[in-house]
Amino acid sequence: MKNLKLDRRMAQLVLLQRIELANPFLTKLRKTFGRYLFSKIISKYFINLKEISKNYSKLMESELLSILSLLKQNQRILSIGSGLGGLEIAIMKKFNETKITFIEKDYISNKIKYGWDDENREGYNDLSLLKNLIIMNDIPKEQFSIFDYDKKNFPSNKYNLVISLYSLDYHYDFNIYLEYLKKNTDENSIIVFDTIRYEYFNKIFNYVEIIKEDQNTIHKSKRIACKMFK
Ligand SMILES: C[S@@+](CC[C@H](N)C(=O)[O-])C[C@H]1O[C@@H](n2cnc3c(N)ncnc32)[C@H](O)[C@@H]1O
Repeated sequence: MKNLKLDRRMAQLVLLQRIELANPFLTKLRKTFGRYLFSKIISKYFINLKEISKNYSKLMESELLSILSLLKQNQRILSIGSGLGGLEIAIMKKFNETKITFIEKDYISNKIKYGWDDENREGYNDLSLLKNLIIMNDIPKEQFSIFDYDKKNFPSNKYNLVISLYSLDYHYDFNIYLEYLKKNTDENSIIVFDTIRYEYFNKIFNYVEIIKEDQNTIHKSKRIACKMFK
């Protein structure tokens, strides 16, 4: 995949969504000055746009590989908590008949925490930047739609695949979306997400498969592909 085109505001935001994109210098500044100054100032003025664009593209390419076996042409995909959508752009480029619906927050917390948030108050996205980034990277408008989680006007559909990397059940409880997902999937739909409690999902689904294990993240999560609600 060619490097994604990003502007500086987009690069700042992907850095906040994927802190592993911080180089050693940025990591040191974050430790020294704390999360608030990092989110507001350091991530704005001390980033190298080319470097972030190259590394974000590489990271999204490797995420694409991790779910490639679940993808095919012409799917209806729901993406929950996509961040700025680098993975979804890679999918739409490879499968140009596939349509993606995004549900995300249109809100950036002042001080981004990366832990579990019972009340799901944290958000790290800007939906106009998400839309602009997808269009800047040559995806036609007809191939995607974006919904604001806080407006609660979610679309009705039967999705073939639901993707939520490092979002649903990584930062906040899967059950927030349980009823919606039950209504908007069928027995063939696959739901992929990262979690630290994969055994719990044997109670919710008939089929749970681990497709990736992450021992390097703070949370030691597993990426699971689930099918058929019980
Ligand atoms: C750590 S980022 C991961 C972004 C992206 N999936 C990735 O892998 O780079 C988590 C994302 O979840 C979003 N988020 C938080 N609560 C959400 C909710 N209830 N529904 C949809 N997205 C949510 C945040 O705004 C943020 O963009």
